[in-house]
Amino acid sequence: MKIIEVSDYKQMSVKASQHVIANIRNSDCLTLGLATGGTPKGLYGELIEDHHVNGTSYKCVNTFNLDEYIGLSKEDSNSYYQYMCSNLFSHIDIPLSQTHIPSGMADDAAEECRRYENMIEEAGGIDLQILGIGENGHIGFNEPGTSFQSGTHIVELTESTREANARYFESLDEVPRQAITMGISSIMKSREILLLVSGKSKREAMQKLIENDVTENFPASILKKHPKVTIIADSAALA
Ligand code: GLP
Repeated sequence: MKIIEVSDYKQMSVKASQHVIANIRNSDCLTLGLATGGTPKGLYGELIEDHHVNGTSYKCVNTFNLDEYIGLSKEDSNSYYQYMCSNLFSHIDIPLSQTHIPSGMADDAAEECRRYENMIEEAGGIDLQILGIGENGHIGFNEPGTSFQSGTHIVELTESTREANARYFESLDEVPRQAITMGISSIMKSREILLLVSGKSKREAMQKLIENDVTENFPASILKKHPKVTIIADSAALA
């Protein structure tokens, strides 16, 4: 794992955008893995600005998002589908048909997981996966205890994750209890991973990631086994 320390959230976002843009420009048709949450919003803002100013095109980029809440429709303002449209897709030239997010409204969620995992494989796998990290070390929605062998699957969200994400909802009660997430093995198959970490609320997770052994009790620890991981973290997260 290569760790790049930057001063603050803005610098993390700029640095990450430079990395993503270089990959898009150096590839005929990049497949990007995307994350949601507060952390990558700044990155997406930088990508939008670059698209407008420098004309970086996404016409040949395919995207796969890590996860989606079960029970939220595409129209729901808290769905990750809406998050991706308002924070990125609506502002760049990517055809929506090339963007992929698990459906939180599938009649058969288990079948939706299989379909999603197959789709990633059929697309040739993910070239560059953007990741954030939960305070408890989750990546995607892979909570502590998730098998390292897991593919895309249904998860029961922990109370700590629901509480951490409640800030986006009217109340804690409205935060879904389940989600579909790419599994640890799906994430580890990506050819490259870019993990973004910002703020003091992630300090403990960062410390565990650096110091602890690889264990299913701290999902992000598996990244130590991946051949190409870059962590861009700000000073507050690394202090
Ligand atoms: C959510 C998402 C993760 C994200 C994490 C951290 O649970 N499913 O993909 O990395 O939260 O979110 P934030 O960036 O808001 O701290």
